[in-house]
Amino acid sequence: MADWIEIATLDECPPGTSIERVIDGQMVALANVHGHLHAIDGLCPHQGGPLGTGVLCGAILTCPWHGWQFDVSSGRHQLSATVRQAVHEVEVRGSAVFVRLARERGTAV
Ligand code: FES
Repeated sequence: MADWIEIATLDECPPGTSIERVIDGQMVALANVHGHLHAIDGLCPHQGGPLGTGVLCGAILTCPWHGWQFDVSSGRHQLSATVRQAVHEVEVRGSAVFVRLARERGTAV
C-alpha cells in the first residue's frame, strides 16, 4: 500500500485555489474547494498540460493549455465519460496536507 506523503501546507492552497506538486515522479493537482482538499492526477490527458496551475471554479478545474475541465472530487472530465483522472486520497494533519497516491491511473480516450 502506498505511503502518505506530505504535499503542502494549508497556507499554500487556500480555498478557491489549486497548486501543482510532483510526488514520486507524478504530477499532482491539489485543489481546495471551499475548505475541502482534493488531489487528482495533475497531468492533463489531452496534451500533458499542468492541471494544478489551471483555474478552479467550484469543484471544476480548467486546464491552462486548452481548457479541458475536470471535477476534482471525481476526476471526471466534464464532457467525456471515458476520460477520468486518478483521484488521490487527501488527509490534513494540523497545517500539513498529505496525499496517498492512487494505485490506478486515470482513463483516457
Ligand atoms: S493539455 Fe490540457 S486541455 Fe490540452
